[in-house]
Amino acid sequence: MTSTCVTLARVAVLISGRGSNLGALLDAAEAPGYPARVALVLSNRPDAAGLDLAARRGVAARCIDHRPFAGDRAAHESAVHAALGEHDIGLVCLAGYMRLLTPLLVGAWAGRMLNVHPSLLPAFPGLDTHARALAQGVKLHGCTVHLVTQEVDAGPILAQAAVPVLPGDTADSLAARVLVQEHRIYPEALRLHASGRPGAYDPAASLTSPLPPLAGTP
Ligand code: GRF
Repeated sequence: MTSTCVTLARVAVLISGRGSNLGALLDAAEAPGYPARVALVLSNRPDAAGLDLAARRGVAARCIDHRPFAGDRAAHESAVHAALGEHDIGLVCLAGYMRLLTPLLVGAWAGRMLNVHPSLLPAFPGLDTHARALAQGVKLHGCTVHLVTQEVDAGPILAQAAVPVLPGDTADSLAARVLVQEHRIYPEALRLHASGRPGAYDPAASLTSPLPPLAGTP
């Protein structure tokens, strides 16, 4: 009898807070045939709820608090990079990791670091995307998974999903609708990337929320 040895990509998920995208990645990685597993959860904040989630799910969890580094971003990133090496990490997923990265980490992980951003890039890079989308009156909003490059929220796009902006939406209601899609496309983008097909995301699947019927139409 022969056995097939499948090498799973060892993924580190970098977080700063809640960790709902971490949860989605952990769930996906449990599926048979998924080509990656979460081998490390790393936070820059000791109070990140995602660290507790990692512990509950039996995943190695570490905090490398940025504050003792007193503004020395390179030194903090060196410590993060060393931790990734200690855990034999092959891919990094940023999931609500609220740190601006320097060329040190971005360069070391070029092509192997993914991020999820809550807008349809290149629209609305940066913070407060949902409030800004509402202020602009856009009719479609969404989320993007992209490779991380030095320019913030600007690397090659791996996956996107769109949602409608509905009458009466607040930043919170819109964020909740987008988050559902983040949890769908991030595991899918990681699956494709880890199996060597980063460009294989199907854009036809990106508009997943059915548009509401127009008032007065049958
Ligand atoms: C998500 O909306 C993500 O797109 C953004 O930060 C948020 C993190 O949420 N970068 P969570 O910690 O994954 O719940």
